Amino acid sequence: MLAQRFPFLDSTPSPSFVVDLEKLRANAAIIADIQQRADCKIVLALKAFSMWSVFPELKPFIKGCCASGIWEARLAREEFGGEVLTYSPAYDESEITELLDFTDHLDFNSVGQWLRFREQVTSHPRFIKGEIHCGLRVNPEHSTGSTPLYDPCVPGSRLGLTRDQIDAACNDVLDGISGLHFHTLCEQGSEDLEATVNALIERFGDILSRPEITWLNIGGGHWITKPDYNRDLLVNVVRKLREQFSLRVWIEPGEAFAIHTGYLTATVRDITHNALDIAILNISATGHMPDVLEMPYRPDVFGPDGELAASANEKPHTYRLGCPTCLAGDVIGDYSFSEELQIGDRLVFDDMAHYTMVKTTMFNGVQHPAICTWDPESQTTKIIREFTYEDYRSRLS
Ligand SMILES: Cc1ncc(COP(=O)(O)O)c(C=O)c1O
Repeated sequence: MLAQRFPFLDSTPSPSFVVDLEKLRANAAIIADIQQRADCKIVLALKAFSMWSVFPELKPFIKGCCASGIWEARLAREEFGGEVLTYSPAYDESEITELLDFTDHLDFNSVGQWLRFREQVTSHPRFIKGEIHCGLRVNPEHSTGSTPLYDPCVPGSRLGLTRDQIDAACNDVLDGISGLHFHTLCEQGSEDLEATVNALIERFGDILSRPEITWLNIGGGHWITKPDYNRDLLVNVVRKLREQFSLRVWIEPGEAFAIHTGYLTATVRDITHNALDIAILNISATGHMPDVLEMPYRPDVFGPDGELAASANEKPHTYRLGCPTCLAGDVIGDYSFSEELQIGDRLVFDDMAHYTMVKTTMFNGVQHPAICTWDPESQTTKIIREFTYEDYRSRLS
Protein backbone atom coordinates (compact mmCIF):
# COMPACT_ATOMS: atom_id res chain seq x y z
CA MET A 1 0.00 0.00 0.00
CA LEU A 2 1.02 3.58 -0.67
CA ALA A 3 1.26 4.62 3.00
CA GLN A 4 3.55 1.69 3.73
CA ARG A 5 5.90 2.70 0.97
CA PHE A 6 5.69 6.39 1.93
CA PRO A 7 5.24 6.51 5.71
CA PHE A 8 4.96 10.32 5.64
CA LEU A 9 1.71 10.18 3.69
CA ASP A 10 -0.72 10.22 6.62
CA SER A 11 1.12 12.94 8.54
CA THR A 12 1.44 15.48 5.72
CA PRO A 13 -1.25 17.58 4.03
CA SER A 14 -2.35 16.91 0.47
CA PRO A 15 -0.84 18.28 -1.65
CA SER A 16 2.72 18.42 -0.24
CA PHE A 17 6.27 18.45 -1.43
CA VAL A 18 8.10 16.05 0.85
CA VAL A 19 11.90 15.97 0.89
CA ASP A 20 13.61 12.82 2.17
CA LEU A 21 16.53 13.98 4.32
CA GLU A 22 18.37 10.67 4.18
CA LYS A 23 18.42 10.79 0.38
CA LEU A 24 19.57 14.41 0.46
CA ARG A 25 22.45 13.50 2.80
CA ALA A 26 23.39 10.56 0.59
CA ASN A 27 23.64 12.80 -2.51
CA ALA A 28 25.63 15.40 -0.59
CA ALA A 29 28.07 12.73 0.62
CA ILE A 30 28.74 11.59 -2.97
CA ILE A 31 29.36 15.19 -4.03
CA ALA A 32 31.62 15.87 -1.03
CA ASP A 33 33.67 12.82 -1.97
CA ILE A 34 34.24 14.28 -5.45
CA GLN A 35 35.22 17.60 -3.90
CA GLN A 36 37.82 15.88 -1.75
CA ARG A 37 39.19 13.58 -4.48
CA ALA A 38 39.36 16.28 -7.14
CA ASP A 39 40.63 18.90 -4.68
CA CYS A 40 38.12 21.43 -5.96
CA LYS A 41 35.38 23.54 -4.41
CA ILE A 42 31.72 22.60 -4.87
CA VAL A 43 28.73 24.83 -4.21
CA LEU A 44 24.97 24.28 -4.44
CA ALA A 45 23.19 26.01 -7.34
CA LEU A 46 20.19 27.58 -5.62
CA LYS A 47 18.32 27.90 -8.91
CA ALA A 48 17.73 24.14 -8.74
CA PHE A 49 16.98 23.73 -5.06
CA SER A 50 16.57 26.50 -2.51
CA MET A 51 14.62 24.87 0.32
CA TRP A 52 16.61 26.75 2.92
CA SER A 53 15.17 24.97 5.92
CA VAL A 54 17.25 21.92 4.93
CA PHE A 55 20.48 23.82 4.28
CA PRO A 56 21.87 22.62 7.66
CA GLU A 57 21.84 19.11 6.16
CA LEU A 58 24.05 20.26 3.26
CA LYS A 59 26.36 22.77 4.94
CA PRO A 60 28.82 20.22 6.37
CA PHE A 61 29.49 18.83 2.91
CA ILE A 62 30.18 21.81 0.63
CA LYS A 63 31.60 25.33 0.43
CA GLY A 64 28.54 27.51 -0.19
CA CYS A 65 26.11 28.39 -2.96
CA CYS A 66 25.97 29.75 -6.45
CA ALA A 67 23.34 32.39 -7.09
CA SER A 68 21.57 33.55 -10.25
CA GLY A 69 21.25 37.11 -9.01
CA ILE A 70 20.71 39.29 -5.99
CA TRP A 71 17.85 37.44 -4.31
CA GLU A 72 19.47 34.02 -4.48
CA ALA A 73 22.74 35.59 -3.36
CA ARG A 74 21.02 37.11 -0.32
CA LEU A 75 19.39 33.80 0.52
CA ALA A 76 22.78 32.09 0.22
CA ARG A 77 24.45 34.58 2.55
CA GLU A 78 21.60 34.64 5.08
CA GLU A 79 20.75 30.96 5.24
CA PHE A 80 23.74 28.96 3.99
CA GLY A 81 26.87 30.95 4.76
CA GLY A 82 30.16 29.94 3.19
CA GLU A 83 31.07 31.33 -0.19
CA VAL A 84 28.61 33.02 -2.54
CA LEU A 85 29.26 32.83 -6.29
CA THR A 86 26.99 35.15 -8.27
CA TYR A 87 26.41 35.16 -11.99
CA SER A 88 23.54 36.83 -13.81
CA PRO A 89 23.13 37.37 -17.56
CA ALA A 90 22.61 41.08 -16.75
CA TYR A 91 22.81 43.12 -13.54
CA ASP A 92 21.56 46.59 -12.85
CA GLU A 93 23.50 49.15 -10.84
CA SER A 94 21.55 48.73 -7.62
CA GLU A 95 22.14 44.97 -7.70
CA ILE A 96 25.88 45.44 -8.17
CA THR A 97 25.98 47.91 -5.31
CA GLU A 98 24.23 45.45 -3.01
CA LEU A 99 26.24 42.43 -4.19
CA LEU A 100 29.58 44.15 -3.63
CA ASP A 101 28.89 44.12 0.10
CA PHE A 102 28.89 40.35 0.38
CA THR A 103 29.34 38.22 -2.75
CA ASP A 104 32.67 36.39 -3.03
CA HIS A 105 32.56 35.84 -6.79
CA LEU A 106 30.89 38.15 -9.30
CA ASP A 107 30.75 36.84 -12.84
CA PHE A 108 29.76 38.86 -15.89
CA ASN A 109 28.10 37.70 -19.07
CA SER A 110 29.16 40.39 -21.54
CA VAL A 111 31.99 42.79 -22.19
CA GLY A 112 29.46 45.62 -21.96
CA GLN A 113 28.32 44.64 -18.44
CA TRP A 114 31.89 44.14 -17.21
CA LEU A 115 33.15 47.46 -18.57
CA ARG A 116 30.07 49.28 -17.31
CA PHE A 117 30.62 48.12 -13.74
CA ARG A 118 34.40 47.57 -13.67
CA GLU A 119 35.29 50.89 -12.07
CA GLN A 120 32.57 50.50 -9.41
CA VAL A 121 33.71 46.95 -8.64
CA THR A 122 37.48 47.44 -8.67
CA SER A 123 37.34 50.53 -6.48
CA HIS A 124 35.29 48.74 -3.81
CA PRO A 125 37.26 48.08 -0.60
CA ARG A 126 36.36 44.37 -0.68
CA PHE A 127 37.78 44.02 -4.20
CA ILE A 128 40.93 45.89 -3.20
CA LYS A 129 41.34 43.54 -0.20
CA GLY A 130 40.99 40.54 -2.54
CA GLU A 131 37.61 39.50 -1.14
CA ILE A 132 35.74 39.69 -4.46
CA HIS A 133 36.83 37.66 -7.47
CA CYS A 134 35.48 38.75 -10.83
CA GLY A 135 35.01 36.38 -13.74
CA LEU A 136 33.71 36.29 -17.29
CA ARG A 137 31.29 33.62 -18.41
CA VAL A 138 32.56 32.18 -21.66
CA ASN A 139 30.90 30.12 -24.34
CA PRO A 140 33.09 27.23 -25.54
CA GLU A 141 30.75 26.88 -28.56
CA HIS A 142 30.65 23.14 -28.16
CA SER A 143 27.15 21.66 -27.87
CA THR A 144 26.92 18.27 -26.20
CA GLY A 145 23.24 18.25 -25.17
CA SER A 146 20.25 17.25 -27.21
CA THR A 147 17.67 19.85 -26.10
CA PRO A 148 18.13 23.39 -27.49
CA LEU A 149 16.10 24.82 -24.56
CA TYR A 150 18.94 23.77 -22.26
CA ASP A 151 21.89 24.42 -24.55
CA PRO A 152 23.81 27.66 -23.92
CA CYS A 153 26.02 26.88 -26.95
CA VAL A 154 23.24 27.15 -29.57
CA PRO A 155 24.02 29.62 -32.37
CA GLY A 156 22.95 33.08 -31.25
CA SER A 157 23.15 32.14 -27.57
CA ARG A 158 22.98 35.06 -25.15
CA LEU A 159 24.84 33.12 -22.45
CA GLY A 160 28.59 33.56 -22.23
CA LEU A 161 31.21 35.32 -24.32
CA THR A 162 32.55 33.70 -27.44
CA ARG A 163 36.25 33.98 -28.16
CA ASP A 164 35.44 36.37 -31.00
CA GLN A 165 33.58 38.69 -28.63
CA ILE A 166 36.56 38.80 -26.27
CA ASP A 167 38.99 39.39 -29.14
CA ALA A 168 36.84 42.24 -30.44
CA ALA A 169 36.93 44.01 -27.06
CA CYS A 170 39.50 46.56 -25.89
CA ASN A 171 43.01 45.27 -25.11
CA ASP A 172 42.65 45.68 -21.35
CA VAL A 173 39.28 43.88 -21.11
CA LEU A 174 40.76 41.22 -18.82
CA ASP A 175 42.14 43.73 -16.31
CA GLY A 176 40.39 43.00 -13.02
CA ILE A 177 39.30 39.51 -14.14
CA SER A 178 40.72 36.59 -12.15
CA GLY A 179 38.78 33.65 -13.59
CA LEU A 180 36.56 32.16 -16.26
CA HIS A 181 33.18 30.49 -15.89
CA PHE A 182 31.32 28.21 -18.25
CA HIS A 183 28.06 26.33 -17.94
CA THR A 184 27.00 24.21 -20.90
CA LEU A 185 25.75 20.88 -19.54
CA CYS A 186 22.33 19.67 -18.45
CA GLU A 187 21.90 16.23 -16.87
CA GLN A 188 25.08 15.06 -18.59
CA GLY A 189 27.96 12.70 -18.03
CA SER A 190 31.61 13.51 -17.45
CA GLU A 191 32.42 12.37 -21.01
CA ASP A 192 30.54 15.46 -22.24
CA LEU A 193 32.40 17.55 -19.70
CA GLU A 194 35.71 16.24 -20.99
CA ALA A 195 34.77 17.09 -24.58
CA THR A 196 33.66 20.57 -23.48
CA VAL A 197 36.86 21.17 -21.54
CA ASN A 198 38.86 20.23 -24.65
CA ALA A 199 36.87 22.81 -26.67
CA LEU A 200 37.37 25.35 -23.89
CA ILE A 201 41.13 24.82 -23.89
CA GLU A 202 41.25 25.10 -27.65
CA ARG A 203 39.47 28.46 -27.59
CA PHE A 204 40.48 29.95 -24.25
CA GLY A 205 43.65 28.02 -23.26
CA ASP A 206 45.88 31.09 -23.68
CA ILE A 207 43.64 33.06 -21.32
CA LEU A 208 43.59 30.23 -18.78
CA SER A 209 47.41 30.19 -18.93
CA ARG A 210 47.74 33.82 -17.86
CA PRO A 211 49.16 34.15 -14.34
CA GLU A 212 46.36 36.50 -13.22
CA ILE A 213 43.72 33.84 -14.06
CA THR A 214 43.59 31.77 -10.88
CA TRP A 215 40.27 29.95 -11.03
CA LEU A 216 37.83 28.27 -13.38
CA ASN A 217 34.17 27.57 -12.67
CA ILE A 218 32.91 24.59 -14.68
CA GLY A 219 29.23 25.29 -13.96
CA GLY A 220 26.51 22.76 -13.30
CA GLY A 221 24.68 20.09 -15.25
CA HIS A 222 26.99 17.34 -13.96
CA TRP A 223 24.80 14.34 -13.14
CA ILE A 224 27.22 13.35 -10.38
CA THR A 225 24.78 11.43 -8.20
CA LYS A 226 23.35 9.29 -10.97
CA PRO A 227 24.47 5.71 -10.36
CA ASP A 228 26.24 5.22 -13.70
CA TYR A 229 27.91 8.67 -13.76
CA ASN A 230 31.64 8.30 -14.39
CA ARG A 231 32.91 10.04 -11.24
CA ASP A 232 36.52 8.97 -11.76
CA LEU A 233 36.55 10.78 -15.08
CA LEU A 234 35.17 13.97 -13.48
CA VAL A 235 37.92 13.78 -10.85
CA ASN A 236 40.56 13.29 -13.57
CA VAL A 237 39.28 16.15 -15.73
CA VAL A 238 39.28 18.52 -12.77
CA ARG A 239 42.72 17.43 -11.54
CA LYS A 240 44.17 17.79 -15.03
CA LEU A 241 42.76 21.31 -15.36
CA ARG A 242 44.16 22.28 -11.98
CA GLU A 243 47.59 20.96 -12.81
CA GLN A 244 47.82 22.17 -16.40
CA PHE A 245 46.74 25.75 -15.64
CA SER A 246 47.48 26.07 -11.88
CA LEU A 247 43.83 26.86 -11.22
CA ARG A 248 41.38 26.48 -8.40
CA VAL A 249 38.36 24.69 -9.92
CA TRP A 250 34.78 25.36 -8.82
CA ILE A 251 31.78 23.17 -9.64
CA GLU A 252 28.23 24.39 -9.10
CA PRO A 253 25.74 21.55 -9.50
CA GLY A 254 22.13 21.96 -8.46
CA GLU A 255 20.13 19.00 -9.64
CA ALA A 256 22.75 16.48 -8.46
CA PHE A 257 22.07 17.48 -4.83
CA ALA A 258 18.31 17.08 -4.97
CA ILE A 259 17.71 14.43 -7.59
CA HIS A 260 15.49 11.61 -6.30
CA THR A 261 15.12 13.27 -2.91
CA GLY A 262 11.59 14.66 -3.15
CA TYR A 263 7.98 13.73 -3.78
CA LEU A 264 4.80 15.57 -4.61
CA THR A 265 1.75 14.02 -3.03
CA ALA A 266 -1.71 14.50 -4.52
CA THR A 267 -5.31 13.41 -4.15
CA VAL A 268 -7.86 12.38 -6.79
CA ARG A 269 -10.67 14.94 -6.75
CA ASP A 270 -12.90 13.75 -9.54
CA ILE A 271 -13.16 11.05 -12.20
CA THR A 272 -14.80 11.74 -15.54
CA HIS A 273 -14.92 10.03 -18.91
CA ASN A 274 -14.44 11.46 -22.40
CA ALA A 275 -13.05 8.86 -24.78
CA LEU A 276 -10.94 7.68 -21.84
CA ASP A 277 -11.11 7.85 -18.05
CA ILE A 278 -9.84 11.11 -16.66
CA ALA A 279 -8.80 11.66 -13.04
CA ILE A 280 -8.64 15.27 -11.90
CA LEU A 281 -6.11 15.79 -9.12
CA ASN A 282 -5.61 18.57 -6.57
CA ILE A 283 -2.25 19.55 -8.12
CA SER A 284 -1.42 21.36 -11.33
CA ALA A 285 1.29 20.48 -13.85
CA THR A 286 1.64 24.10 -14.94
CA GLY A 287 1.49 25.42 -11.37
CA HIS A 288 3.40 22.83 -9.36
CA MET A 289 5.48 20.73 -11.74
CA PRO A 290 6.01 23.02 -14.75
CA ASP A 291 8.91 21.06 -16.24
CA VAL A 292 6.41 18.30 -17.07
CA LEU A 293 5.06 20.72 -19.70
CA GLU A 294 8.18 22.80 -20.38
CA MET A 295 10.86 20.16 -20.75
CA PRO A 296 8.60 18.16 -21.37
CA TYR A 297 8.84 14.87 -19.46
CA ARG A 298 6.67 12.23 -17.90
CA PRO A 299 7.07 11.90 -14.14
CA ASP A 300 6.86 8.56 -12.35
CA VAL A 301 3.79 8.20 -10.16
CA PHE A 302 3.00 5.65 -7.47
CA GLY A 303 -0.63 4.52 -7.31
CA PRO A 304 -2.81 3.69 -4.29
CA ASP A 305 -1.36 0.15 -4.22
CA GLY A 306 2.13 1.59 -3.69
CA GLU A 307 3.29 0.39 -7.11
CA LEU A 308 4.56 2.51 -9.97
CA ALA A 309 1.82 3.30 -12.47
CA ALA A 310 2.61 2.04 -15.99
CA SER A 311 2.17 3.52 -19.46
CA ALA A 312 -1.39 3.65 -20.82
CA ASN A 313 -3.03 0.24 -21.24
CA GLU A 314 -0.20 -1.78 -19.70
CA LYS A 315 -2.18 -2.30 -16.48
CA PRO A 316 -5.96 -2.85 -16.46
CA HIS A 317 -7.11 0.71 -15.65
CA THR A 318 -5.86 3.66 -17.68
CA TYR A 319 -6.46 7.29 -16.66
CA ARG A 320 -5.44 10.64 -18.00
CA LEU A 321 -4.13 12.49 -14.92
CA GLY A 322 -5.41 16.03 -15.27
CA CYS A 323 -5.30 19.14 -13.15
CA PRO A 324 -7.82 21.61 -11.75
CA THR A 325 -6.87 24.74 -13.75
CA CYS A 326 -8.39 26.34 -16.84
CA LEU A 327 -5.42 25.42 -19.07
CA ALA A 328 -6.61 22.74 -21.48
CA GLY A 329 -3.13 21.25 -21.61
CA ASP A 330 -2.73 21.09 -17.83
CA VAL A 331 -2.37 17.33 -18.02
CA ILE A 332 0.35 15.20 -16.45
CA GLY A 333 -0.06 12.22 -18.77
CA ASP A 334 -1.84 8.91 -19.33
CA TYR A 335 -1.04 6.19 -16.81
CA SER A 336 -2.39 2.75 -16.02
CA PHE A 337 -3.04 1.28 -12.57
CA SER A 338 -3.83 -2.22 -11.35
CA GLU A 339 -6.99 -1.04 -9.51
CA GLU A 340 -9.65 1.50 -10.45
CA LEU A 341 -8.90 4.94 -9.02
CA GLN A 342 -11.42 6.31 -6.53
CA ILE A 343 -12.15 9.89 -5.53
CA GLY A 344 -10.00 10.58 -2.44
CA ASP A 345 -7.20 8.18 -3.47
CA ARG A 346 -3.71 9.46 -2.83
CA LEU A 347 -0.94 9.43 -5.46
CA VAL A 348 2.77 10.15 -5.06
CA PHE A 349 4.83 11.72 -7.85
CA ASP A 350 8.53 10.89 -7.73
CA ASP A 351 11.58 13.12 -8.08
CA MET A 352 9.89 16.44 -7.45
CA ALA A 353 12.53 18.38 -5.51
CA HIS A 354 14.93 19.92 -8.06
CA TYR A 355 13.67 22.59 -10.47
CA THR A 356 10.15 21.92 -9.25
CA MET A 357 9.75 23.54 -5.84
CA VAL A 358 11.61 26.63 -7.10
CA LYS A 359 9.34 27.08 -10.12
CA THR A 360 5.83 26.79 -8.69
CA THR A 361 3.09 29.38 -9.13
CA MET A 362 -0.37 29.96 -7.70
CA PHE A 363 -1.99 30.05 -11.14
CA ASN A 364 -5.80 29.85 -10.91
CA GLY A 365 -5.44 30.17 -7.13
CA VAL A 366 -4.93 26.43 -6.81
CA GLN A 367 -3.80 25.41 -3.32
CA HIS A 368 -0.01 25.49 -3.29
CA PRO A 369 1.53 22.26 -1.94
CA ALA A 370 2.83 22.38 1.62
CA ILE A 371 6.59 21.93 2.11
CA CYS A 372 7.58 19.04 4.36
CA THR A 373 10.51 16.83 5.28
CA TRP A 374 10.69 13.13 6.04
CA ASP A 375 13.60 11.72 8.03
CA PRO A 376 13.68 7.93 7.73
CA GLU A 377 16.38 7.76 10.41
CA SER A 378 14.11 9.16 13.12
CA GLN A 379 10.89 8.25 11.26
CA THR A 380 9.68 11.85 11.63
CA THR A 381 7.85 14.20 9.32
CA LYS A 382 7.97 17.97 9.64
CA ILE A 383 5.51 20.31 8.02
CA ILE A 384 7.79 23.26 7.30
CA ARG A 385 5.35 25.55 5.53
CA GLU A 386 1.70 25.53 4.55
CA PHE A 387 0.22 28.05 2.14
CA THR A 388 -3.04 29.88 2.68
CA TYR A 389 -5.37 32.15 0.78
CA GLU A 390 -3.48 35.09 2.36
CA ASP A 391 -0.26 33.95 0.63
CA TYR A 392 -2.08 33.90 -2.70
CA ARG A 393 -3.69 37.28 -2.07
CA SER A 394 -0.53 39.00 -0.87
CA ARG A 395 1.44 38.12 -4.03
CA LEU A 396 -0.94 40.00 -6.24
CA SER A 397 -1.21 43.49 -4.71
C1 LIG B 1 25.25 29.07 -14.57
C2 LIG B 1 24.65 27.82 -14.01
N1 LIG B 1 25.29 27.17 -13.03
C3 LIG B 1 24.77 26.03 -12.48
C4 LIG B 1 23.58 25.52 -12.90
C5 LIG B 1 23.04 24.27 -12.24
O1 LIG B 1 22.84 23.25 -13.14
P1 LIG B 1 22.29 21.82 -12.69
O2 LIG B 1 21.18 22.06 -11.74
O3 LIG B 1 21.83 21.19 -13.95
O4 LIG B 1 23.43 21.12 -12.05
C6 LIG B 1 22.87 26.16 -13.93
C7 LIG B 1 21.60 25.65 -14.43
O5 LIG B 1 20.96 26.16 -15.30
C8 LIG B 1 23.41 27.36 -14.49
O6 LIG B 1 22.76 28.04 -15.46
